[in-house]
Amino acid sequence: MLQVVDLVKHYQAGEETVRAVDGVSLSIAAGEMVALYGPSGSGKSTLCDLIAGFQAPDAGTVLVDGQDIASFSAREHADYLRLTVGIIGQEDELWPSASARGNACLKLLREHPKDAHRLIEPLLLDLGLGDRMNQPTRKLSKGERQRVLIAQALSTDPQLVLADEPTGSLDTRRSREVLALIREACRRIHTAVLLVTHDPQAVAFADRAHELRDGRLHDYAPDELYLRATRAPQESTA
Ligand SMILES: Nc1ncnc2c1ncn2[C@@H]1O[C@H](COP(=O)(O)OP(=O)(O)OP(=O)(O)O)[C@@H](O)[C@H]1O
Ligand SMILES: [Mg+2]
Repeated sequence: MLQVVDLVKHYQAGEETVRAVDGVSLSIAAGEMVALYGPSGSGKSTLCDLIAGFQAPDAGTVLVDGQDIASFSAREHADYLRLTVGIIGQEDELWPSASARGNACLKLLREHPKDAHRLIEPLLLDLGLGDRMNQPTRKLSKGERQRVLIAQALSTDPQLVLADEPTGSLDTRRSREVLALIREACRRIHTAVLLVTHDPQAVAFADRAHELRDGRLHDYAPDELYLRATRAPQESTA
C-alpha cells in the first residue's frame, strides 16, 4: 500500500543543516500497523508530512498503491487527502463552536451530506464519546478532542492512516483503548497505519516497529522497556 523509498528532507537553520529525514525507506501493507518510535526532533512529523504530500522531499519517492504522489496534480492531491489518507491531526484544526459530532463528521459530509451526522455515531460511541457528542468542542477535554480527531480520520474508511502521536494527551488506560481501536479499525477496513509515537507502550500494538534517530531508520530493539510495554496490555486484560 505505502512504499517510501530513500526519502530525504533537510532544513537549513543558519549555518547548520538539519537532517530531519535522511534516507528513509519503509513499506506498509494494507491492514498492517507500523509504529515509528523516536525521540523529539528525530524527524517523525517531517516524515508524515512528506507522506501526506504537505512538503516535497529533497530526494526519494513516496508511492501509494504504486503511484508516485509527486506526480499528483493539485486536484489529485486534494482527492488523495480526502479519500485515501486519514490524518489524525492536531486539535487546533477543530472548530471550537461546532459540536464534537459536527467536527468528527467533517470529512464524511462531502460524500454523505444528509447522513454524516448519523453515520459517525457508532465510531463516536466506540471512542467513548457517546455522552459528549453534542457538546461544543471547546467544552471538551484535550483527550476528548483528540478522540474527535481520531473519529474524523477514520470516518471515511481510509486506505492509509497517518497517526502522529494520537495518544499524546490521553492517560494510560484511555490510550490503550484508543490504540486497540485504531488497531481494530485497521484490520476491519484493511487500512495501513503509520503510528508515530514516543510512547513505548504504543509500540506493543503494532505489527512492526522502527526507531527513527536523527532522520534515520533503525529496527526497533526489543529492550527491557519494550518487553515491559508488550507484557502490560495482556496483564490488564487478564
Ligand atoms: N520547517 C522547518 N524548518 C526548519 N527545521 C525544521 C522544520 N521542521 C522541522 N525542523 C527540524 O527538523 C527536525 C525534525 O523535526 P520533526 O518535527 O520532524 O521531529 P519529531 O520527531 O516529529 O519531533 P516531536 O517528537 O517533538 O514531534 C527537528 O530538528 C526540527 O527542529
Ligand atoms: Mg512531531
